[in-house]
Amino acid sequence: MRLGEVDSTQIEARRLADGGAPEGTVVRAEHQTRGRGRLGRDWVDEPGSALLISIVLRPAVEVSRLPQLSLVAGIAVAEALGETSRLPVAVEWPNDLLIRGLKVGGILAESSIGADGVAVVILGIGINVNQTRFAGDLQGRATSLAHQAGHPFDRERLLAAVLERLEAWYRRWVAEGFGPVREAWRRGSVTLGRRVTTDGGAAGIAEDLAEDGALLVRTDAGALVRRVATGSAP
Ligand code: BTN
Repeated sequence: MRLGEVDSTQIEARRLADGGAPEGTVVRAEHQTRGRGRLGRDWVDEPGSALLISIVLRPAVEVSRLPQLSLVAGIAVAEALGETSRLPVAVEWPNDLLIRGLKVGGILAESSIGADGVAVVILGIGINVNQTRFAGDLQGRATSLAHQAGHPFDRERLLAAVLERLEAWYRRWVAEGFGPVREAWRRGSVTLGRRVTTDGGAAGIAEDLAEDGALLVRTDAGALVRRVATGSAP
């Protein structure tokens, strides 16, 4: 479904999912008036220049695996953007896409369990494609593909690449588990070896990605603490 202006594609996709929309239904908008990010943050776009999509997924996996989906999508989108733009796109735990340290996109996976016990995930992806100016506090933190490459990109081509990589990684994750995603993530992430804070607010170094997708943080006090990607409930 392709929309012009919408409050949030997440809301639209959730409405469709509640009405029985099948897995793989994609909602796309040119502009969002109430785009949302993780942890209740806003997601602001420049009309007509971003890629704003939400996809209905009904993954037949254990509920405990659902937080891994942000990482699956991160790897898939980073691959698609990197291959299409030839820019160095990296993932930052849990859901950011970066180019040269600046945020070019983000992923929001909102999960719920239906009355039938099957999970429904609305996977939201926002990518700054052709935006050339970043105002206010976005300056120095955000970027776009065009800003980094010095020329605009065809959003249709990018969308096709994103959906293709996403489908491939998603199917692999469902069929084979988290192992292949974990290996790709360890190679393509800028997080490992960096200083981060734990959920409890302690400082430490991101040491590894656990076999279930949690970030393993070695605190300054020497403890190994698990950090799980949260903030994914609608
Ligand atoms: C984040 O970095 O915090 C996640 C941002 C996710 C933004 C996308 S844009 C399409 C979809 N609709 C929304 O309202 N949010 C997601």
